Amino acid sequence: MRNQSDLTTGVIDFISLPNRQTKTEDFMRFVVSTDKESDRNYWNESQWSSFISQKDIVLLFFLSDIKRDETLIGFLAARFAENFSELLKICVLPNARNQGIGNVILAEYIDLVRAKNKDKIFLEVEVGNQQAIYLYTKSGFSISRTRKNYYGINRDALEMVLTLKTDYS
Ligand SMILES: CC(C)(COP(=O)(O)OP(=O)(O)OC[C@H]1O[C@@H](n2cnc3c(N)ncnc32)[C@H](O)[C@@H]1OP(=O)(O)O)[C@@H](O)C(=O)NCCC(=O)NCCS
Repeated sequence: MRNQSDLTTGVIDFISLPNRQTKTEDFMRFVVSTDKESDRNYWNESQWSSFISQKDIVLLFFLSDIKRDETLIGFLAARFAENFSELLKICVLPNARNQGIGNVILAEYIDLVRAKNKDKIFLEVEVGNQQAIYLYTKSGFSISRTRKNYYGINRDALEMVLTLKTDYS
């Protein structure tokens, strides 16, 4: 029987997974299905495949047991450009929300972007997604503009930005 003290909850980068070769399919299945059930603007399988084949991306997972890289609870997907990063997806399983997991994954990602010396993080969030807007605002993001009909007719997006480095020159 598994000892509770063996469990190490936390965030891991997909690239660093010890059993990545054997686990890729399970992880991708999790991402595709969780995204589909949680986000109206979900990506289909081929969009996810094309995302993970790109360079300059990050895919973080929140696991309840890092040692065995199992029990997936949430994920975050982002890409890096020259001076900034764009947060594309963040998702936590519905029955695990409001326990601080979104906040932990987001904080880990922001640390990573800082470590890569980028100036800013951008994201888009649908107007009305109060929980996500609250989460981003709490981490220091602010609304930079509204993008009309970004997700479809009468479905606007807020563009939010977190400035990590200010250019005083
Ligand atoms: C957004 C999401 C990732 C947050 O994950 P989470 O693990 O629940 O986040 P946390 O528990 O760290 O924080 C949630 C915060 O939102 C607050 N909250 C919950 N419902 C809320 C609402 N309707 N309005 C405002 N705040 C709300 C909680 O009280 C909590 O605040 P606290 O940390 O001050 O207590 C999760 O809701 C999710 O997966 N949503 C579906 C996918 C999605 O919309 N992603 C964003 C696309 S841009």
